Amino acid sequence: MDFLDLDCPTKVLFGANTFKQIGEVIADWGCRRAMIVSDPGIVALGYPEKAVTLLKRQGIGATLYTGVHENPSSEDVIKGVEAAHQYRPDLLIGLGGGSSMDCAKGMNFVYTNGGAIQDYWGIGKAQKEMLPMVAIPTTAGTGSETQSFALISDAQTHVKMACGDKKATCRVAILDPVLTATQPHRLTALTGIDAIAHAVETMVTTKRNEKSLHFSRRSWELLSKNFPLVLENPDDLEARGGMQLGACLAGIAIENSMLGATHALANPLTAHYGIVHGQAIATMLPHVIRFNAVTMENDYATLAELISNDASSVQTASSEQLASFISDLVEQAGLAGDLRTLGVEQDCLAVLAEDAAKQWTKQFNPRTVETEDLLLLYQQAF
Ligand SMILES: [Fe+2]
Repeated sequence: MDFLDLDCPTKVLFGANTFKQIGEVIADWGCRRAMIVSDPGIVALGYPEKAVTLLKRQGIGATLYTGVHENPSSEDVIKGVEAAHQYRPDLLIGLGGGSSMDCAKGMNFVYTNGGAIQDYWGIGKAQKEMLPMVAIPTTAGTGSETQSFALISDAQTHVKMACGDKKATCRVAILDPVLTATQPHRLTALTGIDAIAHAVETMVTTKRNEKSLHFSRRSWELLSKNFPLVLENPDDLEARGGMQLGACLAGIAIENSMLGATHALANPLTAHYGIVHGQAIATMLPHVIRFNAVTMENDYATLAELISNDASSVQTASSEQLASFISDLVEQAGLAGDLRTLGVEQDCLAVLAEDAAKQWTKQFNPRTVETEDLLLLYQQAF
Protein backbone atom coordinates (compact mmCIF):
# COMPACT_ATOMS: atom_id res chain seq x y z
CA MET A 1 0.00 0.00 0.00
CA ASP A 2 1.48 3.36 -1.02
CA PHE A 3 1.07 5.99 1.65
CA LEU A 4 2.09 9.56 0.82
CA ASP A 5 5.51 10.63 2.00
CA LEU A 6 4.46 13.34 4.47
CA ASP A 7 6.11 14.50 7.69
CA CYS A 8 2.99 13.70 9.71
CA PRO A 9 2.03 11.08 12.34
CA THR A 10 -1.09 10.15 10.33
CA LYS A 11 -0.35 7.89 7.38
CA VAL A 12 -2.20 9.26 4.34
CA LEU A 13 -3.53 7.02 1.59
CA PHE A 14 -4.58 9.15 -1.38
CA GLY A 15 -6.22 8.42 -4.71
CA ALA A 16 -9.43 7.49 -6.50
CA ASN A 17 -11.04 4.34 -5.07
CA THR A 18 -8.61 4.03 -2.12
CA PHE A 19 -11.75 3.79 0.06
CA LYS A 20 -12.04 0.19 -1.10
CA GLN A 21 -8.77 -0.58 0.68
CA ILE A 22 -10.16 0.10 4.18
CA GLY A 23 -10.09 -3.62 5.05
CA GLU A 24 -6.48 -4.06 3.91
CA VAL A 25 -5.37 -0.87 5.67
CA ILE A 26 -6.26 -2.23 9.11
CA ALA A 27 -5.80 -5.94 8.37
CA ASP A 28 -2.72 -6.34 10.59
CA TRP A 29 -3.80 -4.05 13.45
CA GLY A 30 -5.38 -6.90 15.36
CA CYS A 31 -8.75 -5.11 15.49
CA ARG A 32 -11.93 -7.17 15.35
CA ARG A 33 -14.76 -4.71 16.12
CA ALA A 34 -14.98 -1.40 14.28
CA MET A 35 -17.44 1.38 15.04
CA ILE A 36 -18.09 3.65 12.07
CA VAL A 37 -19.10 7.19 13.09
CA SER A 38 -21.07 9.09 10.46
CA ASP A 39 -24.12 11.26 9.83
CA PRO A 40 -27.47 10.42 8.18
CA GLY A 41 -26.60 12.31 4.96
CA ILE A 42 -23.53 10.14 4.39
CA VAL A 43 -25.49 7.02 5.34
CA ALA A 44 -27.97 7.91 2.57
CA LEU A 45 -25.06 7.91 0.09
CA GLY A 46 -24.27 4.31 1.12
CA TYR A 47 -20.60 4.71 2.11
CA PRO A 48 -20.88 3.46 5.72
CA GLU A 49 -22.70 0.29 4.63
CA LYS A 50 -20.04 -0.22 1.97
CA ALA A 51 -17.35 0.12 4.64
CA VAL A 52 -19.09 -2.51 6.79
CA THR A 53 -19.07 -4.93 3.83
CA LEU A 54 -15.40 -4.25 3.07
CA LEU A 55 -14.41 -4.81 6.71
CA LYS A 56 -16.41 -8.01 6.96
CA ARG A 57 -14.47 -9.38 3.99
CA GLN A 58 -11.38 -9.08 6.22
CA GLY A 59 -13.15 -10.82 9.09
CA ILE A 60 -13.64 -7.56 11.00
CA GLY A 61 -17.04 -6.91 12.54
CA ALA A 62 -18.46 -3.39 12.25
CA THR A 63 -21.39 -1.33 13.41
CA LEU A 64 -22.58 2.21 12.68
CA TYR A 65 -23.15 5.20 14.95
CA THR A 66 -24.92 7.80 12.82
CA GLY A 67 -26.05 10.35 15.40
CA VAL A 68 -23.60 13.06 14.30
CA HIS A 69 -24.96 16.58 13.69
CA GLU A 70 -23.27 19.58 12.04
CA ASN A 71 -20.98 21.24 14.62
CA PRO A 72 -21.14 18.07 16.75
CA SER A 73 -22.17 18.65 20.35
CA SER A 74 -21.40 17.06 23.68
CA GLU A 75 -24.81 15.35 23.31
CA ASP A 76 -23.68 13.65 20.07
CA VAL A 77 -20.58 12.45 21.94
CA ILE A 78 -22.61 11.15 24.94
CA LYS A 79 -24.93 9.15 22.67
CA GLY A 80 -21.97 7.84 20.67
CA VAL A 81 -20.19 6.71 23.83
CA GLU A 82 -23.37 4.93 24.98
CA ALA A 83 -23.43 3.10 21.64
CA ALA A 84 -19.74 2.28 22.05
CA HIS A 85 -20.32 0.80 25.52
CA GLN A 86 -22.97 -1.44 23.97
CA TYR A 87 -20.79 -2.60 21.07
CA ARG A 88 -17.31 -2.44 22.71
CA PRO A 89 -15.31 -1.47 19.59
CA ASP A 90 -11.54 -1.79 19.37
CA LEU A 91 -11.32 0.63 16.43
CA LEU A 92 -13.12 3.86 15.48
CA ILE A 93 -13.64 5.07 11.92
CA GLY A 94 -14.76 8.67 11.28
CA LEU A 95 -16.49 8.59 7.90
CA GLY A 96 -17.93 11.89 6.65
CA GLY A 97 -17.15 15.58 6.98
CA GLY A 98 -15.26 17.25 9.82
CA SER A 99 -18.25 16.73 12.10
CA SER A 100 -18.07 12.93 11.84
CA MET A 101 -14.31 12.84 12.32
CA ASP A 102 -14.46 15.25 15.28
CA CYS A 103 -17.32 13.34 16.90
CA ALA A 104 -15.39 10.07 16.55
CA LYS A 105 -12.37 11.69 18.21
CA GLY A 106 -14.57 13.13 20.96
CA MET A 107 -16.11 9.70 21.58
CA ASN A 108 -12.63 8.20 21.71
CA PHE A 109 -11.62 10.54 24.59
CA VAL A 110 -14.65 9.70 26.72
CA TYR A 111 -14.94 6.00 25.86
CA THR A 112 -11.30 5.23 26.69
CA ASN A 113 -10.61 7.79 29.44
CA GLY A 114 -14.02 8.24 31.09
CA GLY A 115 -15.72 11.42 32.36
CA ALA A 116 -17.25 13.95 29.96
CA ILE A 117 -15.89 15.60 26.82
CA GLN A 118 -15.61 18.89 28.75
CA ASP A 119 -12.81 17.23 30.77
CA TYR A 120 -10.64 17.11 27.63
CA TRP A 121 -11.03 20.75 26.59
CA GLY A 122 -7.46 21.95 26.14
CA ILE A 123 -4.35 19.98 25.27
CA GLY A 124 -3.07 16.63 26.50
CA LYS A 125 -5.77 15.85 29.08
CA ALA A 126 -6.13 12.13 28.29
CA GLN A 127 -4.19 9.89 30.68
CA LYS A 128 -4.92 6.49 29.12
CA GLU A 129 -4.28 5.14 25.65
CA MET A 130 -7.04 5.67 23.12
CA LEU A 131 -8.47 3.41 20.41
CA PRO A 132 -6.80 3.47 17.00
CA MET A 133 -8.72 5.63 14.55
CA VAL A 134 -9.12 5.88 10.80
CA ALA A 135 -10.47 9.03 9.13
CA ILE A 136 -12.24 8.90 5.79
CA PRO A 137 -13.24 12.45 4.84
CA THR A 138 -16.06 12.97 2.34
CA THR A 139 -15.50 16.72 2.12
CA ALA A 140 -12.38 18.77 1.43
CA GLY A 141 -12.53 21.15 4.35
CA THR A 142 -11.55 20.91 7.99
CA GLY A 143 -8.44 18.77 7.67
CA SER A 144 -9.55 17.06 10.89
CA GLU A 145 -8.05 13.84 9.52
CA THR A 146 -4.51 15.09 10.21
CA GLN A 147 -5.14 16.96 13.47
CA SER A 148 -5.10 15.82 17.08
CA PHE A 149 -8.01 18.14 17.92
CA ALA A 150 -11.71 17.39 18.19
CA LEU A 151 -13.96 20.46 17.95
CA ILE A 152 -17.07 19.77 20.01
CA SER A 153 -19.75 22.32 21.00
CA ASP A 154 -20.99 22.28 24.58
CA ALA A 155 -24.71 21.44 24.19
CA GLN A 156 -25.63 23.84 27.01
CA THR A 157 -23.39 26.86 26.44
CA HIS A 158 -22.77 26.39 22.67
CA VAL A 159 -19.10 27.15 23.30
CA LYS A 160 -16.84 25.38 20.82
CA MET A 161 -14.33 23.32 22.77
CA ALA A 162 -11.04 22.33 21.13
CA CYS A 163 -10.02 19.03 22.73
CA GLY A 164 -6.51 18.09 21.64
CA ASP A 165 -4.24 15.20 22.46
CA LYS A 166 -1.57 13.48 20.37
CA LYS A 167 -3.22 10.18 21.33
CA ALA A 168 -6.35 11.33 19.46
CA THR A 169 -4.46 11.58 16.16
CA CYS A 170 -5.81 9.25 13.48
CA ARG A 171 -3.48 6.41 12.59
CA VAL A 172 -4.52 6.50 8.93
CA ALA A 173 -6.46 8.92 6.72
CA ILE A 174 -7.95 7.60 3.49
CA LEU A 175 -8.41 10.39 0.94
CA ASP A 176 -10.56 9.12 -1.89
CA PRO A 177 -11.69 12.00 -4.13
CA VAL A 178 -14.54 9.87 -5.49
CA LEU A 179 -16.24 10.26 -2.08
CA THR A 180 -16.15 14.06 -2.37
CA ALA A 181 -17.62 14.18 -5.89
CA THR A 182 -21.16 13.55 -4.60
CA GLN A 183 -21.21 16.67 -2.40
CA PRO A 184 -23.86 19.29 -3.15
CA HIS A 185 -22.43 22.49 -4.68
CA ARG A 186 -23.04 24.51 -1.50
CA LEU A 187 -21.10 22.03 0.63
CA THR A 188 -18.20 22.11 -1.84
CA ALA A 189 -18.25 25.90 -1.57
CA LEU A 190 -18.49 26.06 2.24
CA THR A 191 -15.85 23.44 2.98
CA GLY A 192 -13.51 24.64 0.23
CA ILE A 193 -13.38 28.23 1.48
CA ASP A 194 -12.74 26.95 5.02
CA ALA A 195 -9.77 24.92 3.80
CA ILE A 196 -8.48 28.01 1.99
CA ALA A 197 -8.77 30.02 5.21
CA HIS A 198 -6.76 27.32 7.01
CA ALA A 199 -3.93 27.68 4.48
CA VAL A 200 -3.99 31.49 4.75
CA GLU A 201 -4.33 31.76 8.54
CA THR A 202 -1.68 29.15 9.37
CA MET A 203 0.75 31.04 7.09
CA VAL A 204 0.89 34.01 9.47
CA THR A 205 0.17 32.90 13.06
CA THR A 206 2.50 33.64 15.94
CA LYS A 207 3.10 29.87 16.28
CA ARG A 208 4.12 29.23 12.68
CA ASN A 209 7.43 27.54 11.98
CA GLU A 210 9.39 26.10 9.06
CA LYS A 211 7.30 22.94 8.98
CA SER A 212 3.93 24.69 9.16
CA LEU A 213 4.98 27.23 6.53
CA HIS A 214 5.88 24.41 4.18
CA PHE A 215 2.43 22.86 4.57
CA SER A 216 0.64 26.24 4.39
CA ARG A 217 2.30 26.96 1.06
CA ARG A 218 1.73 23.50 -0.39
CA SER A 219 -1.91 23.47 0.65
CA TRP A 220 -2.46 26.98 -0.68
CA GLU A 221 -1.01 26.04 -4.08
CA LEU A 222 -3.39 23.09 -4.35
CA LEU A 223 -6.47 24.86 -2.99
CA SER A 224 -6.12 28.17 -4.86
CA LYS A 225 -5.68 26.30 -8.13
CA ASN A 226 -8.38 23.67 -7.68
CA PHE A 227 -11.17 25.51 -5.87
CA PRO A 228 -12.26 27.48 -8.98
CA LEU A 229 -12.09 24.25 -10.98
CA VAL A 230 -14.38 22.23 -8.68
CA LEU A 231 -16.84 25.13 -8.49
CA GLU A 232 -17.00 25.18 -12.27
CA ASN A 233 -16.99 21.43 -12.83
CA PRO A 234 -18.00 19.28 -9.84
CA ASP A 235 -17.09 16.10 -11.75
CA ASP A 236 -13.46 17.10 -12.24
CA LEU A 237 -11.98 14.26 -10.18
CA GLU A 238 -8.41 15.50 -10.47
CA ALA A 239 -9.43 18.89 -9.08
CA ARG A 240 -11.47 17.16 -6.36
CA GLY A 241 -8.33 15.24 -5.42
CA GLY A 242 -6.34 18.49 -5.36
CA MET A 243 -8.88 20.01 -2.97
CA GLN A 244 -8.90 16.95 -0.74
CA LEU A 245 -5.12 16.79 -0.50
CA GLY A 246 -4.92 20.57 -0.03
CA ALA A 247 -7.41 20.44 2.87
CA CYS A 248 -5.45 17.58 4.43
CA LEU A 249 -2.12 19.45 4.17
CA ALA A 250 -3.80 22.53 5.65
CA GLY A 251 -4.81 20.27 8.54
CA ILE A 252 -1.12 19.45 9.11
CA ALA A 253 -0.38 23.19 8.96
CA ILE A 254 -3.01 23.83 11.67
CA GLU A 255 -1.54 21.08 13.83
CA ASN A 256 1.81 22.88 13.68
CA SER A 257 0.71 26.51 13.58
CA MET A 258 -2.85 27.09 14.91
CA LEU A 259 -5.36 29.56 13.42
CA GLY A 260 -6.05 33.28 13.81
CA ALA A 261 -8.58 36.10 13.96
CA THR A 262 -10.77 34.86 11.09
CA HIS A 263 -11.70 31.79 13.12
CA ALA A 264 -12.11 33.87 16.30
CA LEU A 265 -14.55 36.12 14.41
CA ALA A 266 -16.40 33.24 12.75
CA ASN A 267 -17.30 31.26 15.88
CA PRO A 268 -19.61 33.90 17.45
CA LEU A 269 -21.44 34.27 14.10
CA THR A 270 -22.15 30.54 14.22
CA ALA A 271 -23.10 30.56 17.92
CA HIS A 272 -25.41 33.65 17.78
CA TYR A 273 -26.87 33.43 14.28
CA GLY A 274 -26.38 29.82 13.23
CA ILE A 275 -24.30 30.96 10.27
CA VAL A 276 -22.43 27.89 9.08
CA HIS A 277 -18.67 27.91 9.67
CA GLY A 278 -17.59 28.15 6.02
CA GLN A 279 -19.93 31.07 5.34
CA ALA A 280 -18.77 32.96 8.43
CA ILE A 281 -15.15 32.36 7.41
CA ALA A 282 -15.83 33.45 3.81
CA THR A 283 -17.20 36.80 4.95
CA MET A 284 -14.45 37.61 7.44
CA LEU A 285 -11.25 36.33 5.77
CA PRO A 286 -10.61 39.19 3.28
CA HIS A 287 -11.04 41.77 6.05
CA VAL A 288 -8.63 39.96 8.37
CA ILE A 289 -6.04 39.78 5.57
CA ARG A 290 -6.26 43.56 5.08
CA PHE A 291 -6.05 44.12 8.85
CA ASN A 292 -3.02 41.84 9.30
CA ALA A 293 -1.28 43.13 6.17
CA VAL A 294 0.19 46.00 8.20
CA THR A 295 2.67 43.51 9.64
CA MET A 296 2.36 40.49 7.33
CA GLU A 297 2.52 42.04 3.85
CA ASN A 298 5.40 39.87 2.61
CA ASP A 299 3.84 36.58 3.73
CA TYR A 300 0.52 37.39 2.09
CA ALA A 301 2.37 38.55 -1.04
CA THR A 302 4.08 35.12 -1.10
CA LEU A 303 0.65 33.48 -1.28
CA ALA A 304 -0.46 35.97 -3.95
CA GLU A 305 2.61 35.02 -5.98
CA LEU A 306 1.68 31.36 -5.79
CA ILE A 307 -1.77 32.01 -7.28
CA SER A 308 -0.50 32.54 -10.77
CA ASN A 309 2.39 31.35 -12.88
CA ASP A 310 2.21 34.52 -14.89
CA ALA A 311 5.63 36.13 -14.34
CA SER A 312 4.29 39.67 -14.77
CA SER A 313 1.90 39.34 -11.83
CA VAL A 314 4.69 38.17 -9.51
CA GLN A 315 6.11 41.70 -9.69
CA THR A 316 2.92 43.14 -8.25
CA ALA A 317 1.96 40.39 -5.80
CA SER A 318 0.50 41.92 -2.65
CA SER A 319 -1.82 41.30 0.27
CA GLU A 320 -4.48 43.31 -1.55
CA GLN A 321 -4.22 40.95 -4.51
CA LEU A 322 -4.70 38.01 -2.13
CA ALA A 323 -7.71 39.60 -0.40
CA SER A 324 -9.33 40.42 -3.76
CA PHE A 325 -8.66 36.92 -5.07
CA ILE A 326 -10.44 35.45 -2.05
CA SER A 327 -13.38 37.87 -2.36
CA ASP A 328 -13.74 36.80 -5.99
CA LEU A 329 -13.72 33.14 -4.95
CA VAL A 330 -16.41 33.83 -2.32
CA GLU A 331 -18.55 35.41 -5.03
CA GLN A 332 -17.87 32.59 -7.50
CA ALA A 333 -18.83 30.09 -4.78
CA GLY A 334 -22.20 31.85 -4.36
CA LEU A 335 -21.50 32.74 -0.72
CA ALA A 336 -22.40 36.04 0.95
CA GLY A 337 -19.65 38.65 1.17
CA ASP A 338 -21.16 40.75 3.97
CA LEU A 339 -22.81 40.29 7.34
CA ARG A 340 -25.94 42.33 6.53
CA THR A 341 -26.95 39.81 3.85
CA LEU A 342 -26.58 37.06 6.45
CA GLY A 343 -29.14 38.72 8.74
CA VAL A 344 -26.66 40.00 11.33
CA GLU A 345 -27.98 43.07 13.16
CA GLN A 346 -25.70 46.08 13.45
CA ASP A 347 -26.47 46.62 17.14
CA CYS A 348 -25.29 43.08 17.88
CA LEU A 349 -21.77 43.64 16.57
CA ALA A 350 -20.42 44.78 19.95
CA VAL A 351 -21.66 41.59 21.67
CA LEU A 352 -20.17 39.49 18.87
CA ALA A 353 -16.83 41.32 19.26
CA GLU A 354 -16.80 40.60 23.00
CA ASP A 355 -17.38 36.93 22.24
CA ALA A 356 -14.72 36.89 19.53
CA ALA A 357 -12.23 38.29 22.04
CA LYS A 358 -12.76 35.20 24.20
CA GLN A 359 -11.95 32.77 21.36
CA TRP A 360 -8.87 30.63 21.71
CA THR A 361 -7.49 31.26 18.22
CA LYS A 362 -7.41 35.03 18.78
CA GLN A 363 -4.12 34.73 20.64
CA PHE A 364 -2.31 33.29 17.62
CA ASN A 365 -3.23 36.11 15.24
CA PRO A 366 -0.04 37.85 14.06
CA ARG A 367 -1.37 41.33 14.85
CA THR A 368 -2.79 41.78 18.35
CA VAL A 369 -6.57 41.91 18.23
CA GLU A 370 -8.50 43.42 21.12
CA THR A 371 -12.28 43.74 21.36
CA GLU A 372 -12.26 47.12 19.56
CA ASP A 373 -10.24 45.66 16.65
CA LEU A 374 -12.65 42.75 16.35
CA LEU A 375 -15.58 45.18 16.38
CA LEU A 376 -13.91 47.19 13.62
CA LEU A 377 -13.49 44.02 11.56
CA TYR A 378 -17.18 43.14 12.01
CA GLN A 379 -18.11 46.70 11.01
CA GLN A 380 -15.95 46.47 7.91
CA ALA A 381 -17.63 43.19 6.99
CA PHE A 382 -21.11 44.57 7.65
FE1 LIG B 1 -12.13 26.40 9.83
